Amino acid sequence: MSRMANIPSPGHPTVAAYLANGYDAVVGMSSRFAAAICARLLRLQTEEGLRGSIAEIGAFEGRFFIALAHALEPGEIALGIDIFEWPNPEVEQRFEANCLKHGIGPERRVTIKGDAGAMAPTDLLKHTGGAKLRLIHIDGEHSRAALARDLALASACLADGGLIVLDDMLHPGYPTLMVTVQAYLDTHPQIVPLCIIDRETIVGATKFVLCEQHWFERYQTRMLDIFKEQIWPLGADFEPHWCLVLSLDTRLADIT
Ligand SMILES: C[S@@+](CC[C@H](N)C(=O)[O-])C[C@H]1O[C@@H](n2cnc3c(N)ncnc32)[C@H](O)[C@@H]1O
Repeated sequence: MSRMANIPSPGHPTVAAYLANGYDAVVGMSSRFAAAICARLLRLQTEEGLRGSIAEIGAFEGRFFIALAHALEPGEIALGIDIFEWPNPEVEQRFEANCLKHGIGPERRVTIKGDAGAMAPTDLLKHTGGAKLRLIHIDGEHSRAALARDLALASACLADGGLIVLDDMLHPGYPTLMVTVQAYLDTHPQIVPLCIIDRETIVGATKFVLCEQHWFERYQTRMLDIFKEQIWPLGADFEPHWCLVLSLDTRLADIT
């Protein structure tokens, strides 16, 4: 089976070309499936009239960042945030080189080196003239406390209609992150899960996509059509909220 089988169109020729020919060459952890879905969600936002820049906490060598940046419109930029110390300080140069090699020049991005947990919203939004962000991917430190700080930062920077994408959800290596997510949802009733992007492998793990409650139906109505080949029929039960599960494997258990 082709490695692109059942992966939805990302909605942009440049993202599609990068996913087909560049993605594997950039060291990273997010799945191609998740990159295609998140790029398509950016396209959906554009179609719905949403504009704005984006950010990734935990940009690492740029694998996922480049895919998202290719999905932006002219004038929009991608903020790549990382401490850039792991596994060695040269990771920052590799990030810059990968962005350049795969078509994301300095005019389309800003590199922000530092601890996201110590950043204020202005540390991000000063790069966008104060404009809030339409998508923020959180893939930094995987502790409960760090995720809570990253969620607070993302919430403060999120534009109306924006999306927060959380990496490594339900990952066997980080079982306690869900505790932070549930606490966040309990204290932020205006935010709901929009969909779950199922894992491709244990490295390309599951992501949650969150949105404002008043945008949920608007997104989901479009997504039911756009991602119809990837919808796992039973959905996700967030008690009492339900949302779509997008998967490369949409089978149900054979019970007969
Ligand atoms: C799993 S990697 C990210 C992979 C990347 N998003 C991808 O999809 O290929 C996690 C990154 O988070 C960064 N990180 C860890 N703690 C951080 C913090 N407090 N602030 C910013 N970045 C952090 C690490 O340096 C590392 O590069």
